[in-house]
Amino acid sequence: MVEGTEGPAPESSRMPRPFDTEQLASARVYDYLLGGKDNYDVDQDMARQMLSSTPELKTLAWFTRSFMRRAVEIAADAGIRQFIDLGSGTPNSPNVHEVAREIEPSARVVYVDYDQVVVSHCDALLARSPGVTALLGDVRRPHDLLDQLIEHDLIDLDEPVAITLVSVLHYVMDDEHPAEILAALRDRMAPGSYLAITHGSSDSSPEILRVLAGTNGTSAQVAFRSTAQTEAFLAGFELLDPGVVPVQQWLRPDLPDTRMVMLGAVGRKP
Ligand SMILES: C[S@@+](CC[C@H](N)C(=O)[O-])C[C@H]1O[C@@H](n2cnc3c(N)ncnc32)[C@H](O)[C@@H]1O
Repeated sequence: MVEGTEGPAPESSRMPRPFDTEQLASARVYDYLLGGKDNYDVDQDMARQMLSSTPELKTLAWFTRSFMRRAVEIAADAGIRQFIDLGSGTPNSPNVHEVAREIEPSARVVYVDYDQVVVSHCDALLARSPGVTALLGDVRRPHDLLDQLIEHDLIDLDEPVAITLVSVLHYVMDDEHPAEILAALRDRMAPGSYLAITHGSSDSSPEILRVLAGTNGTSAQVAFRSTAQTEAFLAGFELLDPGVVPVQQWLRPDLPDTRMVMLGAVGRKP
């Protein structure tokens, strides 16, 4: 857990509140770090505090987006034709559907987020992309989420699927049982499916962990975890090389380390 965290806030207070300019939202803080305009003063203040202890954070955000791209390419190259991007965030090009469709133009993609504003942005962007859908849903309710996808005929769980959870699981507190969420997803994925995650590491510098403790009690509260804890989330998947490592190592050998460490991993369900 992030230093100073005294246990999770009640779930209700950690739901993003659309258009509430006083409450942090992780999608908006991230949007600011990626250079977007869909954020408020409260999000900018948090992002600036993070940047003052870790100036390379914007670079790390783009490394993490590049990891997402790499993971989608791996899955698409392996023949995956349907993708679920959980905790998709405010759209940022290249998005999952753009990457997947470079390899397979017919790929179906569903973007899911629990922030209504994010889903509205995705909807507006995707209005003219058949086979690409944005859905309001909460990762903490994996069965509801998957039932919704089946009900709307968006994904066929009898066929392999790729699920991406990029920088999302560290918003799920321990008492919201992240390992059980992943097990529920895994058990409903067909053999040959892929799971790609990134997760904030507890090996990040103490300074950035202290700044992040300022998110406690908001929907942007984080629980950064160890490499072993992150690897345990991929139980039941075969880990692809190079394993559970900082996202930079998935990209190129010469990229710099960052004081905030973002672990990346890709698994295949046997
Ligand atoms: C740091 S952003 C990452 C966005 C995107 N995955 C990316 O890498 O660019 C985290 C996103 O996860 C979403 N999120 C956090 N907890 C969630 C939950 N329980 N269910 C669905 N979405 C969630 C937030 O609303 C936000 O859009």
